[in-house]
Amino acid sequence: MEIAVIGSCMVDLIAYTDTIPKAGETLVANEFAMGCGGKGANQAVAAARLGADVLMMGRVGDDAFADNTLANFEQYGVSTQFVTKVPGVSSGVAPIWVDADSQNRILIIPGANMHLKPADIEASAERLKQCGMIILQLEIPLETVYAAIEFGNANNIPVLLNPAPATTDLDIDYACRCDFFVPNETELEILTGMPVGSEAEIATAAESLLSKGLKNLIVTLGDKGALWMHGDYREHITAPSVNAVDTTGAGDAFIGCFAAQLAQGTGIDSAIEQAVRYASHSVTGKGTQTSYATAEEFAAFQA
Ligand code: RIB
Repeated sequence: MEIAVIGSCMVDLIAYTDTIPKAGETLVANEFAMGCGGKGANQAVAAARLGADVLMMGRVGDDAFADNTLANFEQYGVSTQFVTKVPGVSSGVAPIWVDADSQNRILIIPGANMHLKPADIEASAERLKQCGMIILQLEIPLETVYAAIEFGNANNIPVLLNPAPATTDLDIDYACRCDFFVPNETELEILTGMPVGSEAEIATAAESLLSKGLKNLIVTLGDKGALWMHGDYREHITAPSVNAVDTTGAGDAFIGCFAAQLAQGTGIDSAIEQAVRYASHSVTGKGTQTSYATAEEFAAFQA
């Protein structure tokens, strides 16, 4: 089963710093790294690293970053048939700060990503119909996300929506048309307007969201694992304890692994368990895609 990721490509510009500067302040940081990122691209690469067949649909700019992004996908075996350049526009870029606690703060400048349109879904319909799952995030226009959900529904293709970055503009009716809705705690807070400072608050906010009519709600909880809810079923999957150095892209690692597991025929509960472990492993390495394990590396980590 091939996985279609319809989403973003970014260039990550990562600063590792003990302290985030205040307004008007200049500080010296420890280290800089540049890498391929974007939530869509990260999820595609994570799934491909684990052996899944992945088709990426996205837009890159008219610059040197674009060739690097295409070469990067090809290196990982991700199909780039529908990753095209937009003339006169810059590629998406993401300045990222990773602090001394390995926590990240991200700004995105979407650039070419905003040029992925509903017409692109139509134009690639015959190829997309061959895919067994569609994965979406919110770094492309909402109208394109909605068109992809409609396409998935019309063609009986399961859809996973990762509402990242979260926006209250998201029409929850479309979220309810997805088979899997996968926010993290921060996204849950934004989408519900409810506090998520404790386990009890997370559970209450998640119940409120699920009650809108979601099929499967999976809330990723960082080092606390993930919460899976559907119907009356509730399960908290815990994460292994690891030495985190950079949490950037861990949520994308989770989704890529989850999709790869489903594509292999794994059940949802085991797929979540594996995805929690894969995301945990990813935070032990620096960068986003550079921290994603191959199937062999992941097996060694689990052992
Ligand atoms: O989820 C991490 C990703 O968010 C980064 O790679 C960055 O590009 C932003 O899209």
